[in-house]
Amino acid sequence: MLKTKKRDISYKPAGQFEDTRFEKIHNVIFESSEEASMMVAEEIADLIREKQSKGQQCVLGLATGSSPIRVYDELVRMHREEGLSFKNVISFNLDEYLPMDKENRQSYHHFMHEQLFDHVDILLENVHIPDGMVSPESVKEYCLDYEKKIKDAGGIDFQLLGIGRTGHIGFNEPGSHYNSGTRVITLDHITRVDAAPAFLGIDNVPRKAITMGIATVRSAGRIVLLAWGRNKADIIKETVEGEISPEVPATYLQEHENCTFVLDEAAGSELTRNKTPWLVDESLEWTEDLTAKAVVWLCEKTGKSILRLTDKDYNDNGMSGLLTQEDSYDLNIRMFNRLQHTITGWPGGKPGADESKRPERAEPDKKRVIIFSPHPDDDVISMGGTFDRLIQQGHEVHVAYQTSGNIAVSDKDALRYAEISKSISKSGEAQNIIDAIKAKSESSVDPIQVRTLKGNIRRGESYAATRYLGLDDANVHFLDLPFYETGTVKKNSLSEEDIEIMIAIIKKVEPHQIYAAGDLADPHGTHKTCLDAVFEAVKRLKPEPFMNDCWLWLYRGAWHEWDIHQIDMAVPMSPDQVLKKRNAIFCHQSQKDGVMFQGNDSREFWMRAEERNKETAEKYNALGLADYAAMEAFVRHIF
Ligand code: F6R
Repeated sequence: MLKTKKRDISYKPAGQFEDTRFEKIHNVIFESSEEASMMVAEEIADLIREKQSKGQQCVLGLATGSSPIRVYDELVRMHREEGLSFKNVISFNLDEYLPMDKENRQSYHHFMHEQLFDHVDILLENVHIPDGMVSPESVKEYCLDYEKKIKDAGGIDFQLLGIGRTGHIGFNEPGSHYNSGTRVITLDHITRVDAAPAFLGIDNVPRKAITMGIATVRSAGRIVLLAWGRNKADIIKETVEGEISPEVPATYLQEHENCTFVLDEAAGSELTRNKTPWLVDESLEWTEDLTAKAVVWLCEKTGKSILRLTDKDYNDNGMSGLLTQEDSYDLNIRMFNRLQHTITGWPGGKPGADESKRPERAEPDKKRVIIFSPHPDDDVISMGGTFDRLIQQGHEVHVAYQTSGNIAVSDKDALRYAEISKSISKSGEAQNIIDAIKAKSESSVDPIQVRTLKGNIRRGESYAATRYLGLDDANVHFLDLPFYETGTVKKNSLSEEDIEIMIAIIKKVEPHQIYAAGDLADPHGTHKTCLDAVFEAVKRLKPEPFMNDCWLWLYRGAWHEWDIHQIDMAVPMSPDQVLKKRNAIFCHQSQKDGVMFQGNDSREFWMRAEERNKETAEKYNALGLADYAAMEAFVRHIF
């Protein structure tokens, strides 16, 4: 990925910003969503202050969802620490579910108060959020009135937006008209799927919403749209580079005169200038990583293996700059070797072998290894084959489950276990739990004893899987990191306690290898928080002598795989090893057959894992490297 320098987000009209060849919307990419959010908050604060100094009101259009959370945090901080006042702010929120009671924790009303309004000095009479309880008879009039209120306030000065994977802005789903105003809309299925975790299941997600229209949004003087994470990368590319179409309502923003998309690297990763920069910039500086990326891309594009690429293939695809130092023959061999050397059946290093052509060190023969698994099944889903090999090859393997994973167990499963416990022991506790489960709905927060039972169910499943792979129970560690234990989908931030738990286990094992889930796709998800905990712990432990011998390997979770050019170690699996991995995943029974958090992929976890591992092997094969049944992939993180 090309790194962008720290930059401001001020809008530059078309023609004045770089890399415009494919891009129709001004956009700025930041290394992290945190840094980007600070810049956006600063722009909003500047506007509020500027208006204040002129004795004017500042009209803000506000969004909910995960994207603006850090912006609101920063505005609250500015209010507390720098005296930023919101007394001259009038706000209009984009949307609200229908029907939706204000008091419901899932309401956007609740969200806005929790994230922003309760912590700043905005006058409540200046806050406008569509009312999710408005009656069907009066909703039309209500929407017209919402529009009128915006006009009466002088129109929106600054509109903050997120974007849905359907390309919705507000809840203007595909099909929305360019001139649409505030109205009732039926939510797209994908939008409901994305909202399902927050509602603990898609059946609880409302089907309708009130949303400001496209015309309402377009009328704002300034628009800033935020998008974070890999999940948004495809829709961002379509919106920024595609044709204007009602099928992707966000493309209407191409016609706005003062609109900026603020992205993190993952969200901007599919834009042509990042994905295939050689098609945009012919005077590109070719690093080794970029060369590998381009060669893999060229093989996919031409359908050829590496050693069959010709000068013409390079020249015809914007890559002639690569052939100034060497011809295609030498370049092909160099890249072939680079990728070939990532393949190893010895993830813990091959004793006595020449390490210069292998991803891991040969020494020591027997390594101490910790596999960090965010939930109690990511270890086997994501690296079950490698896990098995490490044990078979005699390394001292430890697995540390970072969170209890308790919210992903259904009430139905919990009830079954509680009833079995009751039949074995006559203690009243089992009956209490049965009563508690029966008294609650699936979407309400579990009382503590139910959560404990659910956590124990997942522990039992983890032991079943690790015993199946031949690991001693003493090497299985359940960390139950406190940040996760909210009983709801929204988790706490990492605390000192979480980091101390992580440090303690690393110090205890003094590992030569740490494996961790390198999922950067969802910036607010549990995997990312668990990875942050690993990074923070290794950073603090760095001065310890044993850390000089410790390498950190990142695997990807259930959702997607590393790009081939990123992979530092690819561990092949035979058909028998694929079956063994499948059986280990099957031990996690509560996560099979209609799991609570299915996401937008209807395949079960074992199927996703198998298809992904097969696909990686097929890609290696197509590059002309080796023909295996499946492969697990890792990236080394230097800390
Ligand atoms: C929220 C809204 C939506 C979200 C979009 C992205 O008020 O109108 O358009 O901005 O669904 O949601 P997140 O930020 O949760 O990915």
